[in-house]
Amino acid sequence: MSLEQDKPSSDKEFIRVCSIKEIPRRCGKEIVFDEETQVAIFNIDDTLYAVSNICPHQHAPVIADGYIEDCTITCPLHGWVYDLRSGRAIGGTGKLKTYDIYLDGENVMLERPEPEEPTWTI
Ligand code: FES
Repeated sequence: MSLEQDKPSSDKEFIRVCSIKEIPRRCGKEIVFDEETQVAIFNIDDTLYAVSNICPHQHAPVIADGYIEDCTITCPLHGWVYDLRSGRAIGGTGKLKTYDIYLDGENVMLERPEPEEPTWTI
């Protein structure tokens, strides 16, 4: 596997969340910390991306099940589209929180997410 991604230079705390073998290419994997803290991880063209699994439209934990095209994810419920690099909605409002992520051997290391107050857009 040629997937390479260095540890981001920051003083954030990182935790192992899974093996790279558990993330099929071009598929999402959800990591659930609690009801309000969920992260969707993607392996797209040998680059890892991590964003909130909770869609800001109706606060639904479904982003990991979305449709991937290029470097975007489309929410499977109502079709809002987000850029996985920035988390920003494309042509709409809202933003998915993004997280730093890297690979240490076969270990997927994720920035430890802080608990968040729920917000969503109607
Ligand atoms: S819940 Fe994601 S677009 Fe509606």
